[in-house]
Formats: sequence, C-alpha cells, structure tokens
Amino acid sequence: MTEGVSIVGAGHAKFGKRADAGLRDLAHEAVSDLFNDTKLDKSDIDAVVIGVAGDEFNGQGSPSAVINTEIGLTGLPTLRVESACATGTAGIIAAWNMIKSGQRDSVLVVGIEKMTSVSSSVATELMARAGDIRWEYPFGVSFPGYYALIATAHMAEYGTTREMLSSVAVKNHHYGAKNALAHLPREITLEEAMSAVQIASPMNLYDCSLISDGAAAVLLTRDSIAKKFTDTPISIKGIGMGSDVQTMAQRESLTELKGAQAAAKEAYKMAGITADQVDVAEVHDCFTIAEIVAMEDLGFFEKGQAGPAIVDQQTYIGGKVAVNVDGGLKSKGHPLGATGVSQAYELRKQLLGDVGAGRQVDGANIALSHNVGQTGQFVNVLIYERGN
Ligand SMILES: CC(C)(COP(=O)(O)OP(=O)(O)OC[C@H]1O[C@@H](n2cnc3c(N)ncnc32)[C@H](O)[C@@H]1OP(=O)(O)O)[C@@H](O)C(=O)NCCC(=O)NCCS
Repeated sequence: MTEGVSIVGAGHAKFGKRADAGLRDLAHEAVSDLFNDTKLDKSDIDAVVIGVAGDEFNGQGSPSAVINTEIGLTGLPTLRVESACATGTAGIIAAWNMIKSGQRDSVLVVGIEKMTSVSSSVATELMARAGDIRWEYPFGVSFPGYYALIATAHMAEYGTTREMLSSVAVKNHHYGAKNALAHLPREITLEEAMSAVQIASPMNLYDCSLISDGAAAVLLTRDSIAKKFTDTPISIKGIGMGSDVQTMAQRESLTELKGAQAAAKEAYKMAGITADQVDVAEVHDCFTIAEIVAMEDLGFFEKGQAGPAIVDQQTYIGGKVAVNVDGGLKSKGHPLGATGVSQAYELRKQLLGDVGAGRQVDGANIALSHNVGQTGQFVNVLIYERGN
C-alpha cells in the first residue's frame, strides 16, 4: 500500500448572493484564507485542480487559467473537473489520485461557482439541462421537480410526512444560523418551514437549497510531508464513487440512490469502518428529501426510518450522528462546484475541534462527506480521520 494522503490546509469564501465578487474573486478569497491558515509557500504547490460546474452562469468559458492567474499560480500543471453538484469532491479525488500515483506531492483543490449573475429562472434552466435533453428537459422538469418525484415516492412507500421534510430544514437553518460563512444564517420555525410557498409540490421554498455564489479550497499532500504544513493533518481514509442511469424513468426505485449506496460501501470498506462509527457527516441536502434518502443510503438508518429519526433530533449534535451542522446546502448555500470542497473544509475543522460553541461535535474522530451530482449520476463519499 502506498503512503496515505491528508488535508493539511483549507480556506473558504463567504457563501451568499455576492454582488461584490466574481468567479475569480471568490477563488481568490478562498485561497487567501487557505494561505493564512497554513504554513505554506506558493512553491510548495505542485499542481492545481479547479472545479467549476457550469461556465454558463457567468459567461467565462474554460475558467481555469483566469482563476490561476488571479490566485497567482500560473505555470503549474492544472486540471479542471466537472461532475455537476459533485464537482468539488471530484476535484479532491483527482488530487488524491495524483498524489497516490506518486506523480505529485501536494495539490491545491479549488471549488467555485458564481450562480447569481443570472436570475433564478435562468439558473434553474441552466441546471435543468443536466437532465436528459431528449427525454426530460424538453418536458419541463427541473431539479425541484426531480426531487419532488423522489419525495412523493418516499412518502407513498414509507409514510414520510411534511413534518419530517420540514424538520430537516429547521435543523439545517438552526446550525446555519451559527455559521458566519453561511448564505442564509437564519433560524426558521417548523410552522414557517411547513407553510412556505410551493416550488414543486411537495417541495416548498424551505425544502430547496439556495442558489449561491462561493468558493472553498483545500491543500492535499502525501503523509510523509504533511507535518511540514501543519501539526494536525486530516487523513483521507476512504473514497467511494457511484453513478446511475440518466433518466428517472429508467430507475428501479425512486426512494434510494444506487450510486450513493455503492459509493458508501466502497468508502467504508477502504476506511475499514462501519456507518455506526461516523461522528459527523456532511450530506448533500440539495432538497430536504435528499438528506432523508442520504441517511438511509449511507446506512445511518434503516429504510423509512430516517424521517422519524430527524423529527426525534437523532441527527442533531448529541444524537446518533451529527449531520450538516454547518447548515448544509439548505442554509449555508450551494454554489455547485464549491460544495464538496466546502464539506471537506467543515469536516476538517470539526475533526480539529476548531468550529466553536454551538456547532462543534465534541471529540469527533471520524467524519464522512456525501456529495451528489445531478440526481445520483455522480456520487462521491469520502471518509476523513484525525491523524496522529
Ligand atoms: C427555491 C428557489 C426557486 C427560490 O428562488 P427565488 O424565488 O428566485 O428566490 P429569490 O432569490 O427571489 O429570494 C426571495 C426570498 O426567498 C429567500 N430564498 C430564496 N431561496 C431560498 C431557499 N432555497 N430557502 C430559503 N429561502 C430562500 C431569499 O433569501 C429571499 O428572501 P428575502 O425576501 O427575505 O430577501 C431557488 O432557491 C431554487 O431554485 N433553489 C434550488 C436550487 C437547485 O435546484 N440547486 C441544484 C440542486 S441539485
């Protein structure tokens, strides 16, 4: 077995509707934060991976060189990745492989998206093109619609209720309100969440993630040099990847993501752990139903049991497993290409015990991230552990 790979530094731009910042400025903010966080010189970086999901949001085609120029890292080997909403973790996995292969020692991963240069309706249209442009998109399906289908099926099969869906939103806004980096850091009541305006029934406003601008960055190195950068590297212990057919109509079941189940199985096996050992998780709550399905696909709860567990606060800090205690995509926001890297940023801080009162999972040792592209056509699960 070749030596391991760790995260030795991380940075984050404020998520939100950032009228003050374009794509390159967001990248600059995240990378500057990383440089402030870590004992690092530019010459320490061997390669850059840039994750941006959609060029059309801001009009800059093939944005890597623009971003590298802004962050002062031109001339380095650069890879641009795209896996829809799972772009950020695709970047981390690409960097991990570059190091594991022995080709590079340290790789910077930057995940970015600038979505609010266009209106919500245009953003919805651009995202909808990730659906099948022959069999889905022309019939008017967009992402709230896809997840409405999943929610309707889950409600019919397992008795999942409106209250269970809204309880996910209440929890994620509860923690997001304590996160200075969040797009919508505001508590909401269960009544507000349950009675919000319909978007695609049964998905209402508070069932949907936000359309956000943002960026996050992490530096990965091989373990033998990790201590040069930090006394507390965070080890990447497990990686799993999965996928699924393109159209929802071809799925055997709408109440699970086969790709997430496969990715989780592979990641647990590689890390040598079971779901019960995870202390804190970041899961892809692009819609509230997605968090419920994720809890079941990851094996935290039996099928049909995640909804009741959420109402019972089993995914709050102090429950069975703490989930999305940075606010998740729901309250922290969802700038597509940044999300998976932001998950890594949060979990690293959790494992370092560095999050602060109200959001810290005390004594967290093992952390998991679950990042979904489209409706499960890309799923990446990563397991992190505090190194020695
Ligand atoms: C739900 C949605 C359509 C709302 O967009 P919108 O109607 O254009 O909303 P606006 O940006 O005009 O904001 C109107 C208000 O709602 C709030 N808001 C917008 N989206 C929100 C959301 N998802 N959750 C909670 N509040 C939201 C805004 O903060 C604003 O509040 P204010 O009036 O107090 O300032 C949009 O958030 C959406 O499409 N989300 C899903 C994104 C998605 O599909 N991502 C990919 C997932 S796979």
